[in-house]
Amino acid sequence: MQYVPGPHNRACNHYKALHDFILERVRINQQSLDPSCPRDFIDSFLIRTEEVSRFEFSTRNLVDTAIQLFFAGTETTSSTLRFGLLFLVKYPEVQDKVREEVDRVIGQTHSPAMNDQGRMPYTNAVIHEIQRLANILPIGVPRKVACDTHFRGYLLPKDTDVSTALGIILQDPKYFKDPKSFHLEHFLDEEGHFKKNDSFLPFGTGKRVCLGKSLALMELFLMLTTILQRFTLKSPKEPQEIDLTPKVSGLGIVPPNYELYALPREEGLHDSA
Ligand code: HEM
Repeated sequence: MQYVPGPHNRACNHYKALHDFILERVRINQQSLDPSCPRDFIDSFLIRTEEVSRFEFSTRNLVDTAIQLFFAGTETTSSTLRFGLLFLVKYPEVQDKVREEVDRVIGQTHSPAMNDQGRMPYTNAVIHEIQRLANILPIGVPRKVACDTHFRGYLLPKDTDVSTALGIILQDPKYFKDPKSFHLEHFLDEEGHFKKNDSFLPFGTGKRVCLGKSLALMELFLMLTTILQRFTLKSPKEPQEIDLTPKVSGLGIVPPNYELYALPREEGLHDSA
């Protein structure tokens, strides 16, 4: 594509900048490598490269893998968070309840930590419902079958492309009573306890489940609770005017652009009073 003129060339240039940045990091790591004390993914990869001589462990593969980790780990989490903040201004009563739980369980004396999560069923349900409705990867990641595979009476010959319809699973009315709406009962029982749902698969499932699942879950919890511990979020629009229609719906779903105010808590409380 780089030989075809057009605006996509900017993306090629950005990719090259990322590539050069990571290559430089690899050089820095190589010069200061201590095999008994790996500092990061690049060090671990370099150590493995010295241990085994296999074609996968090349510098080229190291740089590409590091770039792919950045791609896989940034846009996904940030799109989910942007959808999350949008839902919180669209449904201010939900935002109030999360803030109430943050105040009760975490308070203002310490920053949110992962061991707070077990005592925060409402917040946990909100994060699940954000991910369910945001549905940012509706057909997962493209895959192909590694060998001839028999599935429900069909033969999928080796190398057949396969996509998992995660978006359909996340909105299956058998599992979610009101699948198109932001509805916390999908993850809360009558007593307000968190309720697991087998159809909640935004990270896929099986051997190739999202590698960053636990990191992403930590990021979502810590970022949303930290924001609500300190700020009240408001939209310049009335909640009923807020449009949730995605900006892009393709392989990935991207939230619309929107504005919001983050009012420091004192000011936010004063404002609502
Ligand atoms: C809300 C955030 C995220 C969502 C919704 C998400 C979703 C997914 C999905 C649906 C897949 C395909 C799974 C399958 O085929 O069954 C996937 C794969 C993957 N994800 Fe994520 N992801 C997120 C965050 C991250 C983060 C933070 C990282 C890394 C730092 C990451 C790294 C990866 C990688 C490397 C794969 C490929 C795994 C493999 O092929 O074995 N993801 N992700």
